[in-house]
Amino acid sequence: MPIQQPTQMQPTNFLTTTTSFPVMALFATGLPWILLGTMVMAMPISFWIKANQLSYDYYKFSCPNLESIIESELLSLFLTDATAPAAFLRLMFHDCQVQGCDASILLDSNYLNYSSEMISSRNFGIRNRESISHIKSILEEECPGQVSCADIIVLAAKESVLLSGGPNIEIPLGRKDSRTYSVLEADAKLPSPTITVDEFISIFVSKGMNIEESVSILGAHTLGVGHCLNIVGRLYDSRQRDKMDFGFEASLRLACPTEIPLTNLTVVPNDMTPVIFDNQYYRDIIAGRSLFGIDSSISRDLRTAPFVIRFAMDQNYFFKAFSSAFVKLSLNNVLTDVLGDVLRHCNQLN
Ligand code: HEM
Ligand SMILES: *[C@@H]1O[C@H](CO)[C@@H](O)[C@H](O)[C@H]1NC(C)=O
Ligand SMILES: *[C@@H]1O[C@H](CO)[C@@H](O)[C@H](O)[C@H]1NC(C)=O
Repeated sequence: MPIQQPTQMQPTNFLTTTTSFPVMALFATGLPWILLGTMVMAMPISFWIKANQLSYDYYKFSCPNLESIIESELLSLFLTDATAPAAFLRLMFHDCQVQGCDASILLDSNYLNYSSEMISSRNFGIRNRESISHIKSILEEECPGQVSCADIIVLAAKESVLLSGGPNIEIPLGRKDSRTYSVLEADAKLPSPTITVDEFISIFVSKGMNIEESVSILGAHTLGVGHCLNIVGRLYDSRQRDKMDFGFEASLRLACPTEIPLTNLTVVPNDMTPVIFDNQYYRDIIAGRSLFGIDSSISRDLRTAPFVIRFAMDQNYFFKAFSSAFVKLSLNNVLTDVLGDVLRHCNQLN
């Protein structure tokens, strides 16, 4: 197989990168799946951007200092709260997963007589929505009526990855904000930590990712924490049990001692370096130290495990795959032009 080295961090079309897997000899049975993984591909990123009418210099004239304003706001926030980058990264996923990357997760209840998406139990643990609104209010002074909340969510996530030590990902901009939101769709589309690998793959393949990119986007779990609520099933429900590192399991039982958590206050780190964006997550899940069922499953399924191993061994390679996957996630069902608004306040309709 030809080896083609991507030359830049920007999301090149990662899908076309075929790579040899010398160390994968042990995983001979997984090889057909690797090949399939590189073939399950939709269109290159450039296609999606054109189709969506987004561009890399969308705010060049309307808000030239946009990225530096967001960066300096986040930098000062991160100095006081090291867990904030994880919150922004998950916020982007939960926005993009419901309706599309349209800031619908920020809208409060009562408009159109609907409940906010935050009512969904799947949004348990989502934090820092109000920080996006705060950044929005600063941008409204600098460039009124220009920057969408949907773009701020994606830029905050991008900046979170970068400031935590991850890749610098270039993101096309120009998303508009939704006028609707749906708690029903949040319930239906936000994945539970116990989903199967099939369900996991279908979520991300539907966004134009191949299996390798799907495995890379879950590397977002290199940041942040989980609550006992999402962990106890693996500890106390025999149907969910799988092999775990002995000491790790003991520490989880210590943190989450009862099947029904007594409080929702206890959190456990997603990997051993929860404030650093690195490939530690993959090393941990290989070693049986996964927090959620799906993390454990991708380390053992023959379709996904080869990529887990590859990312665990080569952080640069993980960063490249993640960059490509992140852009595809950020392009999911975006609204452009007259299809959406630029909200004045991220939590309410204009
Ligand atoms: C199938 C896919 C996924 C499942 C089942 C899943 C599940 C979860 C669960 C259960 C939590 C813990 C929530 C809590 O207890 O507070 C969590 C946290 C997190 N997830 Fe995911 N996730 C998935 C995909 C993603 C993706 C695609 C991203 C980002 C691109 C992401 C980023 C995060 C982050 C950063 C956290 C930590 C949040 C914090 O510290 O506040 N996840 N995820
Ligand atoms: C709005 O919600 C209230 C309370 O759930 C309900 O009684 C009322 O009929 C709803 N109105 C409309 C227009 O759907
Ligand atoms: C923890 O949060 C879940 C989900 O929102 C809720 O169902 C449960 O009652 C909460 N538990 C406690 C002890 O507050």
